[in-house]
Amino acid sequence: MNQAEFDPRAGLTQAQLDAYWMPFTGNRQFKKDPRIMVRAEGKYYFSADGRRIFDGLSGLWTSGAGHARVQIIEAVNRQLSTLDYAPSFQFGHPGAFQLAERIGSFMPEGLDRVFFTGSGSESVDTALKIARAWWRQRGMAHKTRLIGRVKGYHGVNFGGISVGGLAPNRGLYGGLLEADHLRHTGLPENTFVRGQPEYGAHLADELEQLVQLHDAATIAAVIVEPMAGSGGVWPPPAGYLQRLRELCSKHDILLIFDEVITGFGRVGANTGAAAFGVTPDLITLAKQLTNGVIPMGAVAARRDIYDTFMERGGPEYALELPHGYTYSAHPAACAAGLATLDLLESEGLIERVRSTVAPLLEEAVHSLRGQAMVSDIRNFGAAAALTLEAVPGEPLRRPFEVAMRMWDKGYYVRYGGDTIQLGLPFTTEAEEIDGLVDALAGSLAA
Ligand SMILES: Cc1ncc(COP(=O)(O)O)c(C=O)c1O
Repeated sequence: MNQAEFDPRAGLTQAQLDAYWMPFTGNRQFKKDPRIMVRAEGKYYFSADGRRIFDGLSGLWTSGAGHARVQIIEAVNRQLSTLDYAPSFQFGHPGAFQLAERIGSFMPEGLDRVFFTGSGSESVDTALKIARAWWRQRGMAHKTRLIGRVKGYHGVNFGGISVGGLAPNRGLYGGLLEADHLRHTGLPENTFVRGQPEYGAHLADELEQLVQLHDAATIAAVIVEPMAGSGGVWPPPAGYLQRLRELCSKHDILLIFDEVITGFGRVGANTGAAAFGVTPDLITLAKQLTNGVIPMGAVAARRDIYDTFMERGGPEYALELPHGYTYSAHPAACAAGLATLDLLESEGLIERVRSTVAPLLEEAVHSLRGQAMVSDIRNFGAAAALTLEAVPGEPLRRPFEVAMRMWDKGYYVRYGGDTIQLGLPFTTEAEEIDGLVDALAGSLAA
């Protein structure tokens, strides 16, 4: 078929385009010039206008194992034709228990009790609720305050935006939960540093000041992404997470790692906790857990946190945690999760990120230093970001324009805030990285 036979709008009427209120999208711009994907296979999307598009963000940090993986499709198909839905309250199905145990095997030692949710945002709010409830169960009901970090992204539910540190995601919504924020880990000394910066561990000491201010007896938990993702790929300074861990332990504060992006391979390890050598008390998960095929999230908890709820839960038939979702542990999601974790392991994909994708991406993306407008470049694992100098008064414009040029050149990348973000499929080859970085250089120059 030649290019002229393709319809960039995929046959959609303007009424259909208007009917869909798109999330985190400039709806007005999009609906004038839609970017519609109609098929995906491996590392590529196929657009309605008949082009092959390299998936430079693995979906939305979801699909590192590549699209249309037969093993996952078959597992989901089998599950749907056997047991399409099962209530998750008071009843169970085998896949939920099997996947919970399997997730535990990917987590740091001891975090092997798993609560299922439907998304990253639900995982975050679940973890915050578990943290508060755990203190209350242990007779410390005043420990409710939550601490996040500037530029942190923890999804879009009320708990998540309260601890989140991206102002545009909070401003419209009025009163939030009581929360404080640690400083962002970006430092001018660290611009253009490759991988983890050496300098900056001291930023964690700010927690000590917040403890002085509020008293540890009022603080339930600190939540951070081990490597901030959506805020623009910020690997933690060496020693920073260790310091946070020490201070949380010292003051009896739970440490939550939001690993919705970093879980299951993105940082070349099972978790950010493993990559950076720090074990939190709770870990939130989603995205790569099912390779993006079926929505699912999870919270992995320290075993003794779970045990506290069991011990203090009252009669055995009583609910220990009045919390859960209709789609917690959906059978199709569990099947997708089990098949995804099998693929990550059998194909050595996490190891491939560490040994192959990460060094190639680091080398390639830092070659963009010196390009017009590029004020910082960061990378870790199969993730990287460029910060672009803003057009005065229009900080969001340049990343948008660069991403649109990339789309025209056959590359899907994310633009967010003042950054362009890359989250490569775990099987990305050297030539694909070179092509992507050449296209970026061209888009920046234009
Ligand atoms: C660290 C982190 N937490 C939470 C979320 C929210 O996940 P979801 O969009 O599945 O609700 C995201 C999404 O990008 C994320 O990156």
